[in-house]
Amino acid sequence: DPIMHCLMRNNTKHLLNWSKHLSRQCTSKAIISEPKEKLLYNDMLQRRQQQATRSIVVQVQSEKSFPELYNYCASFGKILSAHHYRIHQDDDQHYILLEFGSAEEASAAISSSAYNDELSGVPAHSPFLWFRATSSKRTLKAADQTTEAKLAVIGGTTMLDNNDLNDVLCEASNLDQQIFHLHQKTQLNDLGVRLRFLAALQVKQAVSGIFPNANAQPFGSSVNGFGRMGCDLDLILRFDREIVGAAAMQKRNNESRLVFHTKENLTNGRSQTQRQMESLGDMLHLFLPGVCHVRRILQARVPIIKYHHEHLNLEVDLSMSNLTGFYMSELLYMFGEFDERVRPLTFCIRRWAQTCGLTNPSPGRWISNFSLTCLVIFFLQQMKQPILPTINALMKSASPDDIRLTEDGINCSFGRDFERISFRSRNTAKSSELLLQFFEFYSQFDFHNRAISLNEGRSISKPDHSALYIVNPLEQVLNVSKNVSLEECERLRIEVRNAAWVLESEVENPSQPDNGTQSPWGILHLFKTNEKAVIRPHMFFKPRMVEVSDLFDDSTTDTPPTSVDYKNANV
Ligand code: GTP
Ligand code: MG
Repeated sequence: DPIMHCLMRNNTKHLLNWSKHLSRQCTSKAIISEPKEKLLYNDMLQRRQQQATRSIVVQVQSEKSFPELYNYCASFGKILSAHHYRIHQDDDQHYILLEFGSAEEASAAISSSAYNDELSGVPAHSPFLWFRATSSKRTLKAADQTTEAKLAVIGGTTMLDNNDLNDVLCEASNLDQQIFHLHQKTQLNDLGVRLRFLAALQVKQAVSGIFPNANAQPFGSSVNGFGRMGCDLDLILRFDREIVGAAAMQKRNNESRLVFHTKENLTNGRSQTQRQMESLGDMLHLFLPGVCHVRRILQARVPIIKYHHEHLNLEVDLSMSNLTGFYMSELLYMFGEFDERVRPLTFCIRRWAQTCGLTNPSPGRWISNFSLTCLVIFFLQQMKQPILPTINALMKSASPDDIRLTEDGINCSFGRDFERISFRSRNTAKSSELLLQFFEFYSQFDFHNRAISLNEGRSISKPDHSALYIVNPLEQVLNVSKNVSLEECERLRIEVRNAAWVLESEVENPSQPDNGTQSPWGILHLFKTNEKAVIRPHMFFKPRMVEVSDLFDDSTTDTPPTSVDYKNANV
């Protein structure tokens, strides 16, 4: 009621206070609430995929078009939810995602859509539509412009800017609440996930005529629970085989007496994939609405096509052969689900690494977010009272249903059912304590001689002279962080030491200073971009910024291999 009151009177200041008050109440409840039920990774993926088949995205004039759009689309079926977003915070490109009650209803809306004869364009079907203003012949009735239905969210993909986030963190009452809020306010939200699954569906539908069993599956931070608002979409496209539920198809393959004629593979597996991706790149570029700036990076260890989706404001990395990446995302998802401290802690550490320049959006000789996440997981595994199980323990608990082998014979079998995995943690440390212990642990870690193994949950002797060695959990002869230079590893050591030093005094006084001011405190001291007069040797070797434009041009032509090979380059 008070919020409605503020909305009706357009009183933003009061509204902000109310929302802060409610958010504080929710937070304190959430912190002490019972652990939520763990959802299996495949179940989560399937739910999201089905949700995408029930959804369309419609470009509108503004959020005020919602009643009109709603009334028009209600003729195709029941609308379960509606979500508004803008491409950029201050521009006039507005979209509404509508979720229907069934895939058939969404298809009916798509099938009834028209092409605009006045505009030229490739006549492709897709879930991306726009809402035409009524022509003078079809004047709107007053009833069309109102509806009881509500938008679930307005401006649903807008990110909180740094100042607002800092205000939220300043107002938290203790360090743990700060860590919790940081996660809540910056994680990829429900609408972000919906839009990413729609991008995947568009690719799947584009090839489904020739490949009815094709599956385009999001992986990486879009689905592993470690994604931030605005994170890219990693997508794996398989023409032939379901990624989820492969066993059923195998059975059919063994039993049926009618067998498809197929084209012969022209070359070896890798070149074949590269050639297929070349054509796929053309197809995406020429035919798919919304897809632009298509770039092919086919010489990388994992060949990918990168593109931008202009209706979703999304960067997409599409691969066809990165199954270990897909299964690794499942492992990360499970680690996040095991204990609710894992994701907030990782978000805090990633933000710290970003603000002190340890990570960088461009690939290079610095540590990646993925390697940083591995450091957090390893830290939580090796504790006296571990918070996370080792990967070996997960592999041991695999049942016959969990067996997964990639085409290259890489074993990605591990227990997937939380109920069957016997691991329970008795560690009750607060997130703030874990954060400090993380920095202290890596301040002491012997990076020079030891490698980090998430499989064993303990350090092992380093197999080679890489500066930082993190055993690739699914391909154990490889190093996830082989790209990290000696200087960057040294910076990591120095920065964890500085962070431990800064945080120590904050953990000793974990509550908001009661001085009535809004000055930064707690974890905000970790996020200062080095203006403090702490002498840091790394300042002399700041990472060289590599612009994406240095690596790829904005065309569909293949890019020659570069010294900074894209993803997993050295792995
Ligand atoms: P951001 O893109 O930074 O938001 O994080 P991300 O987790 O999506 O990382 P990235 O896009 O670099 O990689 C996508 C996924 O591929 C990761 O989540 C991992 O599951 C997987 N991955 C990345 N690097 C490696 C690697 O070196 N080895 C293996 N096995 N998997 C990897
Ligand atoms: Mg990613």
